[in-house]
Amino acid sequence: MDAVRTRVAIVGAGPAGLLLSHLLARAGIDSIILDARSREEIESTIRAGILEQGTVELLDDVPGSRARTVGSRHDGIELRFDGVGHRIDFAGLVGRSVWLYPQHEALRDLIAARLADGQDIRFGVTAREAVGAESDTPTVIATTLDGEELEVSADFVVGADGSRSVVRTAVCGSHGGHFREYPFGWFGILCEAPPSADELIYSNSPDGFALISQRSPSVQRMYFQCDPDADPDALSEAQIWDTLQRRVPGATLHEGPIFKRDVLRFRSFVARSLTRGRMAIVGDAAHTVPPTGAKGMNLAVADVVLLAEALESLLSGGDASLIEIFDERASARIWKAQHFSWWMTSMLHAVPEASDFDRRRQLGELRTVVESEAGSAYLAEAYTGWPL
Ligand code: PHB
Repeated sequence: MDAVRTRVAIVGAGPAGLLLSHLLARAGIDSIILDARSREEIESTIRAGILEQGTVELLDDVPGSRARTVGSRHDGIELRFDGVGHRIDFAGLVGRSVWLYPQHEALRDLIAARLADGQDIRFGVTAREAVGAESDTPTVIATTLDGEELEVSADFVVGADGSRSVVRTAVCGSHGGHFREYPFGWFGILCEAPPSADELIYSNSPDGFALISQRSPSVQRMYFQCDPDADPDALSEAQIWDTLQRRVPGATLHEGPIFKRDVLRFRSFVARSLTRGRMAIVGDAAHTVPPTGAKGMNLAVADVVLLAEALESLLSGGDASLIEIFDERASARIWKAQHFSWWMTSMLHAVPEASDFDRRRQLGELRTVVESEAGSAYLAEAYTGWPL
């Protein structure tokens, strides 16, 4: 058994864990990050693509961040329904924008910057258990790639370890949470083709929802609403293109070879509590949102900003007042993002059991949003992100 000691033990080298170690290092607080995955796996797993303006501003402080150079600024999105596209002009409505920058690229930047700064990141180390939340030395018990046991004791333990969080169990038990499941998921593809439009298209059609997103000038990411149990390999490329084209009536998509496909399940979840003694959970460990509002990674970043501030005053100033209210402060934004993600999802998707009334009401809702400056401004404000 190997034992190490640090000030903050962080489980998870995703956006939340890496950004937290960066902010703590800025405040002179050492940390160790553990992640079960290899660096290659973390840097190549395809995840979300939209960064709020506040997220990009935080990444500006990370040496070598390419969010503004490789990523591209988007000043609006298109909402499409009844065969017509309507632009939501973020810049004009709220003076803010978002950046299209794939999460794994942001992770590559963060990992390189943290390692260059001397950060201890242990890849391939699986946290099995977090213990001692109510003590002064909370500890993570982990297994290394060689099967050795590793104990990391700290002044504080943070679970940034995703939706199957081990730290969450220590903070609020294995069942503690608010949970909602949806009767649909997304069938996602990556294809080699030029962009079909300048901005992302969120399309409501009688056959169901589609999202036309992008990755680069030559690679596009697209999704269409599907059964959550759909088999990603069951459709031919021709069937996929036929489905996508029918779901954006009035527009024509540029087609190309599909080189990746996956099915995403939709869940809304918020853990019953985010802290216990000297442990906290952030990001997907603490909450999950359906992807329609593009909030997942951005919400993780917002948690981390609050937690870094609270840990700095606890560990450098001996002041526990901010950590005591961390749950309450983080929850305010988490529930706004839960509402926004649920709202975008329910406004845009075809519900399998929907009546004619439900369908017409939904179109009335979409019309309200695009025809009212107040309605469009709410969408723009929430999508580009509330101030951090
Ligand atoms: C993506 O590009 O993967 C993406 C963009 C916007 C969303 C969800 C996913 O709302």
